[in-house]
Amino acid sequence: MDQPVVTQVWRVDPERPEPEILARAAALLRRGGLVAFPTETVYGLGANAWDAAAVRRIFAAKERPAYDPLIVHLASPEALPQVAQGIPPRAWALVERFWPGPLTLVLPRAAGIPDAVTAGGDTVAVRCPAHPVALALLRAAAIPVAAPSANRFGHTSPTTAQHVWEDLAGRIELILDAGPTPVGVESTVLDVTRDPPVLLRPGGVTKEALEAFLGVPIEGPGRRIEPGRASPSPGMLPRHYAPNTPLWLFLGPRAWALAAMRRVAQQRLERGERVGLLLTAEDQGLWRGLPVTVQILGQEGDWERIAQGLYGALRRLDKADLSIILARDLGGGAALGLAIRDRLRRAASRVITPEGTPRQQ
Ligand code: TXA
Ligand code: MG
Repeated sequence: MDQPVVTQVWRVDPERPEPEILARAAALLRRGGLVAFPTETVYGLGANAWDAAAVRRIFAAKERPAYDPLIVHLASPEALPQVAQGIPPRAWALVERFWPGPLTLVLPRAAGIPDAVTAGGDTVAVRCPAHPVALALLRAAAIPVAAPSANRFGHTSPTTAQHVWEDLAGRIELILDAGPTPVGVESTVLDVTRDPPVLLRPGGVTKEALEAFLGVPIEGPGRRIEPGRASPSPGMLPRHYAPNTPLWLFLGPRAWALAAMRRVAQQRLERGERVGLLLTAEDQGLWRGLPVTVQILGQEGDWERIAQGLYGALRRLDKADLSIILARDLGGGAALGLAIRDRLRRAASRVITPEGTPRQQ
């Protein structure tokens, strides 16, 4: 890692960001500084995308392996030809419909984008975020900004400035604090260099919305990729977005999963261990009377609310000095449910089904 730096935190109005604060943050970015800022999905850790040395500092601060490429953030679609080339008409149509918003497009990379951003690949991931603070910062900086989620590599993404602080204080110059991010899970990553496009990561823009708009079925999300193997999108590593505490995820019918969770919880409690549970609102009554630490998400099916609270809940459990976190498989199907299932499965250290344990790490 680089020399330690003093990390400043500046509060900024989430709706009407103060221009003088953003001008100072933008100047810092232009000088090669690392600035964490809110987007509508999660907090990002930004650096000047033209500046390879600044981009390399992102990898050092996050302890992110150099093979995992970054998303470039733009103030507006007009800037797209600066970072990508050979942009197909379908990509322009998606941009017109979904930007600013939580849709990242993978496109052929333009000359001039440093290898550090794309991990040496010939494509670049690009998005235009919808958060007023992100947009105002990008406009003030007037440069493309490379920004992964502002967490240590592999860890749960940050949805508040406090989360960023916990992972990156002493490693980055500035955190812009505009409160919690509204969506709560990362952007959808869509590879539009392929025909039909391929969904690399489900996220804030749903697969159904993309399919309805494009009028074609979309492939993906793809099968799991094992670490060390060539990967179409390195964020598809099987364990990612994870708490440090082991998380066991129970698949199968709700009643089976809850009973199995209860058995494991009781065994662990009898051994004197501390147990955490990640529950939906309708599951919480079943745990009354057990000395467990609980985080409640929304009602099952209220995927927007669950997405908003998911990472915060995981981080609170992670800080509660527990030996295990138990959760039931949620989501899948439609809308943000797909992203929630994806993130829960990647957060899990072990997946348990009525038939046994298909995956243990
Ligand atoms: O919502 C978001 O996308 C947030 C905010 C900050 O914008 N950013 C974010 O970045 O989640 P990151 O780096 O944590 O995740 C980017 C994902 C990774 O899975 C990465 O492997 C993939 O996008 N990616 C980046 N460039 C790619 C490329 N050229 N081809 C395929 N996948 C790429
Ligand atoms: Mg990330």
